[in-house]
Amino acid sequence: MPQTSEWSPDSWRSRPAAQSVEYPDAAAASAAEQQLRSLPPLVTSWEIERLREEIAQAQAGTRFILQGGDCAETIADCKPELIANKLKILLQMSLVLVHALKKPVTRIGRFAGQYAKPRSSPTETRAVPGGAATLPSYFGDLFNRAEFTAQARTPDPMLMVRGYQHAALTLNFIRALTEGGFADLHHPEYWDLAFFKHASLAPQLRAEYERMTTNLADGLRFMEALGERTVDDLTRVEFFTSHEGLNLAYEAAQTRRVPRREGWYNLTTHMPWIGERTRQLDGAHVELFRGIRNPVGVKIGPSAAPQDVVDLCRVLNPGNETGRVVLIARMGAAKVRAKLPPLVAGVVESGARVLWMCDPMHGNPATTSAGVKTRSFDAILEELDAACGVFEQSGARLGGVHFELTGDDVTECIGGAAGVTEADLSLNYASVCDPRLNYQQALEMAFLLARRMGKGAA
Ligand code: PEP
Ligand code: CO
Repeated sequence: MPQTSEWSPDSWRSRPAAQSVEYPDAAAASAAEQQLRSLPPLVTSWEIERLREEIAQAQAGTRFILQGGDCAETIADCKPELIANKLKILLQMSLVLVHALKKPVTRIGRFAGQYAKPRSSPTETRAVPGGAATLPSYFGDLFNRAEFTAQARTPDPMLMVRGYQHAALTLNFIRALTEGGFADLHHPEYWDLAFFKHASLAPQLRAEYERMTTNLADGLRFMEALGERTVDDLTRVEFFTSHEGLNLAYEAAQTRRVPRREGWYNLTTHMPWIGERTRQLDGAHVELFRGIRNPVGVKIGPSAAPQDVVDLCRVLNPGNETGRVVLIARMGAAKVRAKLPPLVAGVVESGARVLWMCDPMHGNPATTSAGVKTRSFDAILEELDAACGVFEQSGARLGGVHFELTGDDVTECIGGAAGVTEADLSLNYASVCDPRLNYQQALEMAFLLARRMGKGAA
């Protein structure tokens, strides 16, 4: 098997890479990589090891993982209010889950590096004056620029350095906020819950949301009264980072050894993940990520066979260690009941130690009659609900969830109590890639997930 061959931070270069983007100027690409290699890391090995421990706890059922953020971060959106709002929604969702599940929740943002996007086609054709033009697709701000001109779409290696710099700026602000500026947000009194009052909610559901919010506030006050430590243990404001490890030149340039530890670490992020389109067993992405200590996510879509998933676990985690492989199932509401059970059963039977998470976003794309990309709140909820059902029937555990969301008032997904309709999508559609849940939809999703999963909690 090729995977038993020697690994190095460069061994991926001789493997076929799906979604690969060629830099026209090889010398400029290697200069950018060289610069990235000499810059300080964005995260540390001890943070990565702590996340591994937390993922291992989620595998054991004593913790839950909430991962979420933009589909694609952009350099233009590296702004304080957008970053703070993202932290706020993730924190609030996590507290709703802590309260319902009675266990700590680890927050992992899709941020500080979520700048590279896989595309369904390497090129894009658009009507332009005098005919049609075909250009490389926009692969995210780490590769090229969104504007539809030949110059903007040409892959530019300096964008790796710019991406790194903006990831560092984002992370610096996140670290500063979590050091202290966030205390108020523990308290539902400060949350923007007014919309529940005006929403067209069934009276029973409205009463239930109000009860959950009051209980949550009471619980937090009670724990604070008991002393800092208790509240700290359950709700300590810590965020980890994650992004799709698509641009391997960027990832490899920050894959390093660190003093006094064994092995190699990808120091661009705590948890890189391999996308549904790049998880080929012999491909370059699996090759690079099999050699690092970080926890590694792998998106698993409905076309995966049980053996594919078992093989991925073996190659990415030959020592079968806990805290290492995170399988993120993204089947779609229509397929999850049929496609997920054999995969879960195959992994259980193989004895592979993994954390299963559910991404209810990427299997549920929809397009409106006007051609706008959207997702329905109900389909997202249905996939979550069905995935919970699948795990209840299996010998495995659902240990986390993965959302595309923002803390802002965008109109990209349809539905939810605040009632975003198809006609509303044009009001504030801000995503450059997939549609995200807005603040209200994300918070409501957390309440509904808490209600669904909380039933089993003590
Ligand atoms: C994503 O997470 O934005 C993504 C492209 O996911 P997937 O690889 O599951 O399609
Ligand atoms: Co996406």
